[in-house]
Formats: sequence, C-alpha cells, structure tokens
Amino acid sequence: MRHRHALALAATVGMVALLAACGQPAPTATAPPAPTLSPAELGEQLFAVKGCAACHGLDAAGTGIAPALPGHSAEQVRRQVRSPLGSMPAFGPGQISDRELDLLVAYVEGLEAGEGHSEPMAIPLGDAIAMHHWMALTALASERVDEAAHHVAHASELIEDAEHQRAMQGVLGSLEAGRLHDAAHEIEGMLAGTAEPALSEGELHLQLALGAALVDDGPEASHHLDHFMSEADEHEREGAREALEHIDAGDEGAAASAIVELIEATEHQQHRHD
Ligand code: HEC
Repeated sequence: MRHRHALALAATVGMVALLAACGQPAPTATAPPAPTLSPAELGEQLFAVKGCAACHGLDAAGTGIAPALPGHSAEQVRRQVRSPLGSMPAFGPGQISDRELDLLVAYVEGLEAGEGHSEPMAIPLGDAIAMHHWMALTALASERVDEAAHHVAHASELIEDAEHQRAMQGVLGSLEAGRLHDAAHEIEGMLAGTAEPALSEGELHLQLALGAALVDDGPEASHHLDHFMSEADEHEREGAREALEHIDAGDEGAAASAIVELIEATEHQQHRHD
C-alpha cells in the first residue's frame, strides 16, 4: 500500500524519479558534475535525480511515505541504499555507484549539521513489526519458545491488519502446542518479500531497546538491553548498564542517548561493508 502511494507521488515528481523508485536505472546518465560543487551539493542533485526525493521529499524533510533524513548516519545511508529495511527499494551498484553513494552520504550528513540537532528517530512501525518477526524466528532456531512467544506477542500488539493479526494468533497456537517448526514456517511466510535486516541479533536488540526508550517504555527497553548484554563484550556491557541505570532512574531520554552511543560503538566495531 505504501508502495502504491510512493509511486503516485513519484509520478508527480517526474519520470526519472518514477523509474528510480521502481528500482530501475534512470534512462539518462547524470551530467558530469561541475567541479565547483561540493560533495554535499552533488549529493543533493543525485538525491533528486535518483528518485530518493520522490519518497523522502525534495529537501529530505520526510513525506507520508518515507522518514525525514537529517540525523541519519553514513552507515545508515549506506546500509539502507544497498540492503534496505522496510519497504524502501534497494539500489545496486548498477543504479547508484559507490562514488555516488559517497555523495549521497555527504548530502545526508550535511543535513544533520544544518539542522543543528539529531534527535534519534523512533523505529518506523513497519520495521519494528518486521524486527519482532525476525527475532521470533531467531529465538525459534535455538528453541527458545518463551522468547519467540514474547516477540510474537509484541508484533501482534503493533499489527493493525486483521488478517495478519489472525495469522499471529495462529503462530501463538502453534507455539503453545509445541509445534515450533510450523510456527517458524508461519512466520517465514509473513516475512516473504521483506528484506532481511542486515543487523546481528545484538544490534536488533539495541534498535528495539532504542525504540522502546523513545516511547518511554522502560520495561521493554530493559528487556532488550538484558538480551543485548548476554552476548556483549565487557565494554558494550558497560554502556548497556549505563542505559539501564537511566531507565531505573526514570530517565528514558538519557537511556535513549546512551543506547544511540552503544549502537554507534557497535557499528564502528563491526564496520560492515559490502
Ligand atoms: C519508494 C520510496 C523510497 C525511495 C525511492 C527511497 N526511499 Fe529511503 N526510505 C523509504 C522508506 C519507506 C523508508 C523507511 C523504512 C521503513 O520503515 O519502511 C526509508 C528509509 C530511508 C533511510 C533511513 C534508514 C534508517 O536506518 O532509518 C535512509 C537513510 C534512506 N531511506 C535513504 C534513501 C536514499 C539515499 C534514497 C535514494 C537513493 C532513498 N532512500 C530512496 C522509502 C524510499
């Protein structure tokens, strides 16, 4: 449904944007950049030409389809373009070269500086639901039934679609009856067509902890931090403990900042490049 809106808007922005939004290469080559433009300015042009603006708005300020981008990190832009979370189409190197991706990153990073603040965004609802599906599957793979049920229940709370809701009840039924294999397949079916998040389980827990902290859900944030800690090294555990202390003190905002720092630290450490 989101995608249909996306295409409708793209059509108003122009044919080039429409094609890019469909995941096809733009028909005409981009004019060679004038040497006087900065990387961020070149990136701004690419942002329009490659169709990003069709969904994110001409100044990346966000639309009903896609979030505002100021405050997003270089890592997030790179990951999202090549292996997107949620309903955004992927752009391969044939559509956006590594050099062009560098320019897009420069543009988005410039937005952050220009805005002067970078409040972390809550995880888009669609992503949170998908993440809970993935985490339920991960839990099932190691037969942690309670943990799987926990994520199925959370996904159910967020899901509005009645049919999806019923399917989730079916999964819970399978879990209760001990049919773990069936439950896993049912969840996989729901995820068909969704890009697998390029995040480790620990990173997913941090993202979910952040989402919870941002909506002042301390218990849920603590739950995910506890999970994160069980797999973390000593340094990461220290950061997680700091976030937990903020939650205990009732300051979810400070906890969210601590979690953002943790996420950045784990990103630097892992340094994923594809
Ligand atoms: C068809 C619409 C569409 C197009 C085209 C599109 N995006 Fe997105 N983008 C989205 C949606 C929707 C999301 C939110 C993901 C979700 O939750 O579904 C998103 C999210 C993002 C994010 C945030 C990722 C995060 O970690 O939070 C970044 C960065 C981004 N897009 C960059 C780009 C860039 C750069 C382009 C152009 C190369 C682009 N997008 C083109 C729809 C689009």
